[in-house]
Amino acid sequence: MTKDQSIETLTVDQAKAEIAALSKDLSAANTAYHSADNPILTDAEFDQMKRRLTALEARFPNLAQSDSPTQIVGAKASDGFGKITHSIRMLSLSNAFDRQDVIDFHEGICRFLGLPITTSLRYTAEPKIDGLSLSLRYENGTLIQAATRGDGAIGENVTENARTIKDIPQFIENAPKILEVRGEVYMSHEDFTALNSRQSERGGKTFANPRNAAAGSLRQLDAQITKERPLRFFAYALGELSTPIATTQMGIVTAFHSFGFQVNPLMQSFDSIDTLLNHYSDIEAQRATLGYDIDGVVYKLDALDLQQRLGFRSTTPRWAIAHKFPAELAWTRLDGIDIQVGRTGALSPVARLDPVTVGGVVVSNATLHNEDYIVGLDSNGNTIRDGKDIRIGDWVQVYRAGDVIPKIADVDVAKRLDGSVPYVFPTTCPECGSIAIREEGDAVRRCTGGLICPAQAVERLKHFVGRKTFDIEGLGAKQIEMFFHDETLPIREPADIFTLETRDQSSLARLKNRDGWGDKSATNLFAAIREKRTIAFGKFLFALGIRHVGEAAANLISKHYVTWSSFHDAMQIAAKGEGPERDALLSIDGVGQVMVNSLIAAFGEGPEYMGIQRLAAHLSIQDAERPKLVGSPVAGKILVFTGSLEKMSRAEAKAKAESLGAKVAGSVSAKTDLVVAGPGAGSKAKKAIDLGIETIDEDTWLDLIKGL
Ligand code: IVH
Repeated sequence: MTKDQSIETLTVDQAKAEIAALSKDLSAANTAYHSADNPILTDAEFDQMKRRLTALEARFPNLAQSDSPTQIVGAKASDGFGKITHSIRMLSLSNAFDRQDVIDFHEGICRFLGLPITTSLRYTAEPKIDGLSLSLRYENGTLIQAATRGDGAIGENVTENARTIKDIPQFIENAPKILEVRGEVYMSHEDFTALNSRQSERGGKTFANPRNAAAGSLRQLDAQITKERPLRFFAYALGELSTPIATTQMGIVTAFHSFGFQVNPLMQSFDSIDTLLNHYSDIEAQRATLGYDIDGVVYKLDALDLQQRLGFRSTTPRWAIAHKFPAELAWTRLDGIDIQVGRTGALSPVARLDPVTVGGVVVSNATLHNEDYIVGLDSNGNTIRDGKDIRIGDWVQVYRAGDVIPKIADVDVAKRLDGSVPYVFPTTCPECGSIAIREEGDAVRRCTGGLICPAQAVERLKHFVGRKTFDIEGLGAKQIEMFFHDETLPIREPADIFTLETRDQSSLARLKNRDGWGDKSATNLFAAIREKRTIAFGKFLFALGIRHVGEAAANLISKHYVTWSSFHDAMQIAAKGEGPERDALLSIDGVGQVMVNSLIAAFGEGPEYMGIQRLAAHLSIQDAERPKLVGSPVAGKILVFTGSLEKMSRAEAKAKAESLGAKVAGSVSAKTDLVVAGPGAGSKAKKAIDLGIETIDEDTWLDLIKGL
C-alpha cells in the first residue's frame, strides 16, 4: 500500500483507490473482530490502516464514504441482551503511533483553540487497558445500570453481570444525583491462565486471550457464570453527570477513587510532550510485568473546560488520543492465495497461512490487498517490502497489529523454494468467468459481471438484509447463501425476498417441510419479511448497495429529496444527461462527483435499474424527515465563514455550526443563508453583499449562538 507516501502528493484517483481498499479491509476486519469475541488479529495494523484512511478522508473529503469504517465505533449490540441507549455516546479514541503523531495531536488542539502551538498544556497519561469498556450509571448513589459500548450509541444491558464484579461499587456515598462512570473490564494474566485451565478440565471453551475471556465472561446471559469469572474494572472516564465533581481529568479520577473505584496507579499528568513521552516509555518498560494486558498509553487534555470546547469528531474526542505500542510479528508459510469477490466486484486476494500465533491469537489468513501489493508495489508504483513479491510457498512475516485482518510485513526470499514462480493474478472473475478489469487509477481489479456474477449478487443481498439495512429477522448471511442456491425457492435479487411467501404457497417443496425449518420458523420468517415492507427512504437507498453510496450519504440524500419518488424522478432525468438535477445532487454536502456518477449509472436504463423498480413495487418507502433542531437559529441553514476569526478557530466555528444543524459551505452562492465575515474577508464577503445575503461579524455570530 501507499502508507509511506505523502497524502499531499496523491492524485484523486490514487486516493480513491486507496480509500476503497482500506475501507474494505477495515470493514472485513471489524466484522471478524466484533461479532464473536473472537478476533483474528490485534490492534496495531488496524490502527495504522484506520489512521491512514482518516487522513485520506480529511484530505479528500469528497471521496469520504459515509459508511466508512472511520465512522464506526464498534459492532452492533448482540441480540441476547436488552439494549440501553447511552445518554452520552461512548466513543472510541484516535491513535498515535509515534512522537510526531503526539506532537500533531497537541498542535491540532492548540490550533482548534486558537492558541500558539508553543503553548504548554497539561495532559494526563495512563495505560490503555486491553479489555472492554463499560458504562455504569448511578442514581442517588445506587448502581442502576451497566451497559457495554455496543455501537457507541446503543449498548447491551449487562447490569446483573456487572453487579458481580467486586471492583464495581453497588452504592456510592456522597455521589451526585446522576453519575456515569466509564472504564474498562479486564482479566489479569494470572486469572486468565487459571480460568483457561479450569475450563479445559471441565471440557469447556478456552479463550484466546484475556480480553476475549473478559468479554465472554461479562456477556454471559447467566449472571451466575459471570460471578464465577474473576473480572476487574478500572474507572477512567465520565459519562453523564448532574453536578460537577472536578475541573480536571485528574480530579475526576481522584473522585472516582474516593467513590471506591479502582483507578490505574500509573496515571500521571505532565505539561510537556517530552515528559508525556517519557512516561509512555516508562509504562512500555513495565508492560510485561503489570500482570494485565495493555496496548498503549492514553493521553487526555487535563482541563475539562478545554475538553468541552474541543468536543468530538463523529466517533472520537478531539481532546484525547491513544498512543499505541508497536505491533507483534511472527513468521509462517504462505499456503495459498484465494480470490474473494466482493459486493462491488472487487477481486481481493487473501493469503492462506499456516496457522501461527501472533500476540495470543491464531492467525490463518491475511489480506493481500490487490495485485500490485503482491508484486511489491504500492498504488503509485513505488516499491514496498524492498520490492519483494509474495509467492505461494514463501515464508512470510505476519503482523497482527490491529483489531483486523493481519498483514504481511516481509518475505524471506532466502528461504524461497527452487522453482517457485511469481503469483499470476487472475484477469477473469473466479466466480463467474467475466473479464476482470482495472480502471485507470484503480488499484483494484473488478469483475465486470455486475449482477450476473453470483458472488456480487449474493454479497449485495447480504448487504441488503444486513443490520443497518433491511435487518430481517431470520434472514441473515447464512440463509441468504442457502436461498441464493435454492432451486425451488430461490432468492437471487432483493425483490425475490418479498415474493418468497407467495412462491412458497404454490411450491411443492414448502419451506416448513425442509430440514432446519418448521412451521413456526417459516411463519416467523414471512412475518419478519412483511414487517419490513415499510422502510425509511434513507435506509432503502443505502440497502440498494450502490457503489460509493454509504449509510450517511443515503440519509443526506433522503433528507434533501424527502420523498423516494422525487429522488427517483430526478435520477431518471439526471441519467439521461447533464442538467440541473445532476447539479442539485452535487450540491448536497457530502455528495461528490464519484457518488453522483455511481447513482446515475444505477438509475440509467439497465438491469440494475430494473431490479430497483421490481423491488420498489413491493415496498412502501417512507418520506424522510427534514432535521429539526429546536431553538437553533441556524438549523438547516447554509453558512459560510470567511476572513479571520479571533475568538474561535475556523474548525471550532464550523463544528459548532454543524452541531446546531447548519451546513457549512466553503463558498458563497445564491443558496447561502448567512455569511460570518471576520477581518480581512475578501471576495466571499463581497459576493455575499452582491447577492444580498445576510452578513454578520464574529461578535454577532457569538451572540447568536450564545448559550447553545
Ligand atoms: S478514555 C472519550 N482511557 O480504549 C474517551 N479509554 O480505543 C473514552 N480504553 O473505548 C475512552 N483504556 O474501551 C480511555 N485509560 C483509558 C482506556 C480506554 C482502555 C479503551 C476504551 C475505549 C477504547 C478506545
